[in-house]
Amino acid sequence: MRGETILIVDDEKLIRWSLGHKLVKAGFSVVDAETMDQGFSYLLDHEPDLMILDQLLPDGTGIEMLERMKKENIQIPVIMLTAIDRSDVAVQAMKLGAFDYVTKPVNHEELIIVITKALEATKLKRQIAHLLKEQEKSYGFCGMIGASLPMKKMFDDILKIAKSSGTTVLITGESGTGKELAAKAVHFLSDRRENPLMTVNFSALTETLIESELFGHEKGAFTDARSQRKGVFELADTGTIFLDEIGDISPKLQVKLLRVMEQKTFQRVGATSEIAVDIRIIAATNQSLEALVREEKFRADLYYRLNVANIVMPPLRERGDDIILLAEYFLHEFDTKFHKHFRGFQPDAKATILHYTWPGNVRELRNAIERAVLLHEGDLVEPDHLELFRHQPTAEPAAAATGKIEESVVSLVEMEKQALLQALERAGNNQSRAARMLKISRDTLRYRIKKHRLFDR
Ligand SMILES: Nc1ncnc2c1ncn2[C@@H]1O[C@H](COP(=O)(O)OP(=O)(O)OP(=O)(O)O)[C@@H](O)[C@H]1O
Ligand SMILES: [Mg+2]
Repeated sequence: MRGETILIVDDEKLIRWSLGHKLVKAGFSVVDAETMDQGFSYLLDHEPDLMILDQLLPDGTGIEMLERMKKENIQIPVIMLTAIDRSDVAVQAMKLGAFDYVTKPVNHEELIIVITKALEATKLKRQIAHLLKEQEKSYGFCGMIGASLPMKKMFDDILKIAKSSGTTVLITGESGTGKELAAKAVHFLSDRRENPLMTVNFSALTETLIESELFGHEKGAFTDARSQRKGVFELADTGTIFLDEIGDISPKLQVKLLRVMEQKTFQRVGATSEIAVDIRIIAATNQSLEALVREEKFRADLYYRLNVANIVMPPLRERGDDIILLAEYFLHEFDTKFHKHFRGFQPDAKATILHYTWPGNVRELRNAIERAVLLHEGDLVEPDHLELFRHQPTAEPAAAATGKIEESVVSLVEMEKQALLQALERAGNNQSRAARMLKISRDTLRYRIKKHRLFDR
C-alpha cells in the first residue's frame, strides 16, 4: 500500500475506470473528475499527490487547466495524456510545468513508471526545500547565505555595529556582493527596526532631483515645485537612511551632506528654517573612497564622517564553498519559480562554478542560475547550461581569437541535433527505438529532444 492520492481528469469513463483500476491495484488511492471545472475544484479543496490530465475535456483543455494551476500556484506533479501526433501539446504542457506526458493509448506499465518517478522527484524536491530552510537557519543571516570565514566575520561585524544605533556605517565591496542586504541587516538588527528605512540611490538620480529627494522643497522653490514636499531626511526621522552609490555624489552635495551629518539639522530647498532629525546613515559604494579622496573627487572630511564603522563585503570568489551553497539556494528558488525539475548540479558544473572568478559576484551567480533553469530541462544542471565559458578568460587566447573554439562548440551541438533527428526519422518517431539506435536511455533521449527543442520547429 503506497497511499498516495492520484487525481484522474478525463472525460472518458472507460479510461477513468481502467486507469483507476490499475492504479488502485498498484497501491494508490484514486479520485477522478470528468471535466476541467470538477478537477479544478477538487484541486482547490484537496491536495492530491499527483494528477493525470487529459488534453481534451468537455469544458476546456488540459493546457488551460495547467495555466489555471499556474495562476493559483498549485504545485503538484501533472502527467499529461496526449494524442500520439500532438507533440506540440506535450511540449507546451512541459513548458507549463507538467512533469511528463504519456501518449494515448496509454501503456499502463509505462504510466506507473512515470508516476513513480514524478512522486519520487516531488518528494526529493520537498526534502531539498526542507534542507535548504534548515541550512538557511544555520548558514544564513538576515537573508544572506554564507558559512565561510569571511562571511562569518562580516555577520559578526554587522551584529556589533547594528547595536550602536546612532553610528554611521560605510559598506564597501565589489558590485553584487550584497551591500544592500547588509544595509537592511544593520537596520533591522538595530533598535530602529520599527522605524523607517529609506534608500536613496545616487547613481539613479539627477543632481536637482537628488537635492529635493533628500531634503524636500517648499512650494515654488523651483519651476516644477508646485507644492511642498518632504524629503527622505524628514520622512526617515528616527529611522535609517541608506545612501547607495555614495561615490557618485557631486561636490556640492558632499558639502550639504557633511553639514547635515555635523549639525543633524537641514533645510528644505527654498526654506529658511532648520529641521532637526535623528537619523542613522548607512552609505555604500563599490568604489574606493580613499582613492577618490586622493584624486580630490571626494571630500576627506566627509569620508571620515562616513567611515566611522566599516563593513567589508568579501568578493564571491573568496567565499570557498559558499559559492555552491548559494548556487543550490538559487537553483531551488528558480526551479520552483519556473516549475522545473532540477535537483542539483553535475560534478563538472560544480567544478565550473567553483573555478569561475565571478566578477559580478552573487548577482552574476544568481543571474547565471536563473538563465540556466529557465532555458534548460533536466535533473542536473550541466556545465553548458551555465554559459560561463563565454566570459571565462581562456587558456588559449590565440585559438579564441581566431574563433576556432566557438566554431567547434557550435558544430558539436549541431552534430548531436542531426544524430537525434536522423535516429528519430529512421525509427519512425518511436522514441524507444531511436534511443536504442543511439545507445542511450530513453530518458536521455527525451531530455536531448527537449534540449534541442526538436518539437518546437
Ligand atoms: N549572501 C547572499 N545570500 C543570498 N543572496 C544574496 C547574497 N548576497 C547578495 N545576494 C543577492 O545578490 C543580488 C545582489 O545583491 P545586492 O544588490 O545587495 O548587491 P550590491 O553589493 O548592492 O551590488 P551593487 O554594488 O551592484 O549595487 C541580490 O539579488 C541579492 O539578493
Ligand atoms: Mg547595491
